[in-house]
Amino acid sequence: MTSFIPQIEPYINELELKYLTQVVESTYVTENKLTKEFEDRIKKLTGAKHAIAVCNGTAALFCCLKALDIGPGDEVIVPNLTFIATANAVIMAGATPVLCDIQRQDLSFNLEKLESCITSKTKAIMPVHLYGFSADMDEISKIANKHDIKIIEDAAQGVGVHYKGTHTGTIGDMGVLSFYGNKTITCGEGGIILTDDDELSKRCYQLKNHGRSSKGVFVHESVGYNFCFTEMQAAVGLAQMDKLMSIIHCKNLIKNKYVYHLGHLMEPLLPDETITTPVYWFTSFLTPHKKDLQSYLKSKSIQTREFFYPLDKQPCYDSNVIRGSSFEVSHRLFSQGISLPSSFGLSTQNQARIINTVKEYFKSHVEVND
Ligand SMILES: Cc1ncc(COP(=O)(O)O)c(C=O)c1O
Repeated sequence: MTSFIPQIEPYINELELKYLTQVVESTYVTENKLTKEFEDRIKKLTGAKHAIAVCNGTAALFCCLKALDIGPGDEVIVPNLTFIATANAVIMAGATPVLCDIQRQDLSFNLEKLESCITSKTKAIMPVHLYGFSADMDEISKIANKHDIKIIEDAAQGVGVHYKGTHTGTIGDMGVLSFYGNKTITCGEGGIILTDDDELSKRCYQLKNHGRSSKGVFVHESVGYNFCFTEMQAAVGLAQMDKLMSIIHCKNLIKNKYVYHLGHLMEPLLPDETITTPVYWFTSFLTPHKKDLQSYLKSKSIQTREFFYPLDKQPCYDSNVIRGSSFEVSHRLFSQGISLPSSFGLSTQNQARIINTVKEYFKSHVEVND
């Protein structure tokens, strides 16, 4: 029987167990020394002055908005092609997401349309670094500075990704990384807030910790939430940090092979590497045959992923969002985008099987000579 190839699975093994054993043996499970160690490793990786670990990336985005006093009556511009958490965090904070189309070259804001989304209510722009690309932060910063608007970078998918040499998530006022199970590195669930601002960092810590500045104290300076991390998440995260460079290297090799063998059949999604130092979290292509190809691969036990559903089409969004532009690019990318299996553990044989199956599809269904 042909084995199933997942689109993505984490690279976890005995190293995570080793770190987890320390936690079990210590019996200290709520955030403590390992969480601090994990935050320090992230600071070292990104160059951020502060890194505050929270339970997930969505909570991290929410804390950034609250720390910047963004709430009811305010607007925040988000790209139309992203995971829904970007806009949901804005709604959770009581503000209104304004949806703006993206541009093909970096999968982030369409810079021409971005400025026309700004109104007197705009408090922040939330660029998303999608699929391991970086948004054009110089151009976005110029627009934000001109209108005196804050930038919160959603770098949930941006671990290890750099923009002109600077780690994503550290260029705007605040930034966020996610460690969800399918991300470049994972803690199961988890997120981190990055900022260089001491006051914003303090506010985020309070927000995640019931409004107080340290645990074990029962006088609370403000009203907060419980978005704390755990030592188990930190243990897994530390093991994953040990592996980060080999994960990035391996994903690059996977991408090279796919592009070499399939680049003439489908349009590969590749960033301008003079601007972005990418991480090929997923290797993705555009093809008008996406739907058919995806079904064909599924019938051969190969799992793929389509792109995010454009936010303007989401059934849960009506008057709770503002459609700030037309959405040609995000719609095209959704209708044509397919991500192929891209796990660290993808074997040479399985990648060859995927490549041959894609070629077989084009040969038999699309009249393309290979
Ligand atoms: C672009 C983007 N933003 C936000 C999130 C939310 O992160 P989390 O799942 O850790 O809440 C994710 C991923 O899950 C994401 O891909």
